[in-house]
Amino acid sequence: MPAPAASHPRTVLVTGGARRLGRTIALALAQAGWQVAVHYRSSIDEAIETVAACAAFTPTDGYFDADFENEAAVRALLPRVVAHFGSVDAVVNSASMFEHDGFDSFSYALLEQHLRSNAGAPVILAQALHEHLQARAAAGEAELQGCVVNLLDQKLWNQNPDFVSYTLSKAALEAAGTMLALALAPRVRVVGVAPGLTLTSHMLSDERFGQLHAMSPLGRSSTPEDVAAAVRFALDNRSITGTTLLVDGGQHLMRFERDFSLM
Ligand SMILES: NC(=O)c1ccc[n+]([C@@H]2O[C@H](COP(=O)([O-])OP(=O)(O)OC[C@H]3O[C@@H](n4cnc5c(N)ncnc54)[C@H](OP(=O)(O)O)[C@@H]3O)[C@@H](O)[C@H]2O)c1
Repeated sequence: MPAPAASHPRTVLVTGGARRLGRTIALALAQAGWQVAVHYRSSIDEAIETVAACAAFTPTDGYFDADFENEAAVRALLPRVVAHFGSVDAVVNSASMFEHDGFDSFSYALLEQHLRSNAGAPVILAQALHEHLQARAAAGEAELQGCVVNLLDQKLWNQNPDFVSYTLSKAALEAAGTMLALALAPRVRVVGVAPGLTLTSHMLSDERFGQLHAMSPLGRSSTPEDVAAAVRFALDNRSITGTTLLVDGGQHLMRFERDFSLM
């Protein structure tokens, strides 16, 4: 009797997966048996390195560039991943533009860039995943359900007047999560994961980052591994859709007058 065909690993596209939080998420999912496709915009060396690190857990060789300000490039992305791997089962939208503006420097130009990258692209990728899964279901694949995880930010629940365009774009993505969860059910679940202060930036010293990270009811905000574990949970739990997991040590319960990077 022939041996049963080995089951194909599930494939996940992690946007912004080359470095920082996206890289930790990519590695955690590879460790959990996901075949990871890494999206990057400019960090090609890091993307290649991340894919190699993921491949140590679950075979993969896929890294894909796309600038999310370019709608055509976003629309082409998921079909490129499907062409490479044969199928895609999930998308983790971690790529994000994060440039400062306040109400004194607000402009349509920066708002539009943030909305394109942080809200428009995740919506198009969710819709593309739905279309792909519908086509596979029509071709006879049974019990097919995909998942989109959108990286949000605890600051939506604890707002301050810094990073206006970024915050508006993440608010739009949070609202899109609710609408997409309704529109794409039952084929695709849509879940938000909202980290607290997790990684430092060039705007903070290590010492200041440590102090701010400790400012939460639990005495620590999120680590990249905490966030990656929540993403993995969201991908695996077939009952969750249209909601957000706040992974932030409770920072959203506190009041901060400024963005962490300006405190
Ligand atoms: N880090 C934190 O403490 C924190 C806190 C709260 C929420 N979050 C959320 O968690 C996610 C990951 O955070 P992070 O700090 O790792 O993000 P990040 O370093 O600010 O950005 C991640 C990646 O996004 C990609 N990117 C930016 N603009 C893009 C565009 N127009 N088109 C395509 N890709 C673009 C970049 O890829 P390339 O390098 O390839 O150009 C970048 O490496 C984000 O959604 C963020 O909002 C993070």
